[in-house]
Amino acid sequence: MIDLLIFLVPAYVGNSSPVVLGGGAPLDLGKKIGGKRILGKGKTIRGFAGGVVAGTLAAIIIAQYYQLPFFENAETQMIGGFLLAFGTLFGDSFGSFLKRRMNMESGSPFFPDTFIFLFFALLFVSPLVHDLFEPFNIAFFFILTMILHPLTNLIANKAGLKRVPW
Ligand code: CTP
Ligand code: MG
Repeated sequence: MIDLLIFLVPAYVGNSSPVVLGGGAPLDLGKKIGGKRILGKGKTIRGFAGGVVAGTLAAIIIAQYYQLPFFENAETQMIGGFLLAFGTLFGDSFGSFLKRRMNMESGSPFFPDTFIFLFFALLFVSPLVHDLFEPFNIAFFFILTMILHPLTNLIANKAGLKRVPW
């Protein structure tokens, strides 16, 4: 189980770092479709890039000390970490895209936010892993994320980094 937790670190780092690293120009450059922002003001270029870099860095550091059984070697583990982080930020933006299409304000609570990033992270890393997609592991990932995602959002809010506690 500790392996499963370590495996997801690049995704969690990628998901939580934009609140600190973000700012500046929005990822959608302010553009709209159908009168609604494509992604909205909560998704910035710096947040996206910073999240991918931070998650990948975490994976590179972990790979120096710990070889996960799901990857062939340290190199694939690092590339896998990048894919997890990239999938996370892609999923995060995709979630915002859906929210804007449903007329939801940036920052409004949206239950699927908790899972969309995880789904895309796992999808993106899937070509590089073996012995990972077993029912127990998948259930563990979703339950862990259901606990950690709201918890980290609450901490970020209490620490004054995030406007809302979700
Ligand atoms: N953030 C960012 N760039 C990203 C993702 C997040 O700059 N690609 C920053 C923004 O300051 C954002 C904060 O992190 O407000 C919290 O992220 P999140 O909860 O994902 O965004 P929301 O503001 O809730 O916007 P949305 O409704 O689109 O999810
Ligand atoms: Mg949000």
